[in-house]
Amino acid sequence: MNPSSHSPSSSSAASTAELQERRAAPLSTPTDLKSPATEQISNTLSVLLADVFALYVKTKNFHWHMSGVHFRDLHLMLDEQAAQLWAMTDPLAERCRKLGGRTVHSIGEISRLQRVLDNDAAFVDPPDMMAELREDSRMLVRQLRRAHALCAEHGDVGTNSLLETWIDQGEQRIWFLFEASRGAGQDNGTHRTTLAL
Ligand SMILES: [Fe+2]
Repeated sequence: MNPSSHSPSSSSAASTAELQERRAAPLSTPTDLKSPATEQISNTLSVLLADVFALYVKTKNFHWHMSGVHFRDLHLMLDEQAAQLWAMTDPLAERCRKLGGRTVHSIGEISRLQRVLDNDAAFVDPPDMMAELREDSRMLVRQLRRAHALCAEHGDVGTNSLLETWIDQGEQRIWFLFEASRGAGQDNGTHRTTLAL
């Protein structure tokens, strides 16, 4: 036995190397999907997750700042939609981890990745709220479909079964937002050309 192998300096060097190796190792999870595919899919899902968080906060923002004669209906509808978006967040993040990828770590990372734009205006007219959420939802559904195509290409049926439900829910939100804003325009006696899908 070489006594030097147990010297404090050698053991400390070994543990440093071990630590560095552990730090460099990915948070790998066993999966039979291939590495470039899992990386691509988890990156796509992480950007989707950032969009869903941003749209969730915007929907709550409009829920909190709703006003006007349709206050109760719209306030409640947006709360239902926000709950649907919130319910997507954990399964989206956990899909990334199941594939051995990483996902968002912070509000800062969400804000760097999100494609949905924030709305910090002091006042937003309710029909404009509906129109903005509808456009954001259309963008989100488009991106969910793109992610679905990517997963189909790599045989990731686990992610796709979730995406299919979320696409259907997104289309329902668009429908409700469309009908709700059409009602608001008619009641105000105005014709809102922006309502056409
Ligand atoms: Fe509330």
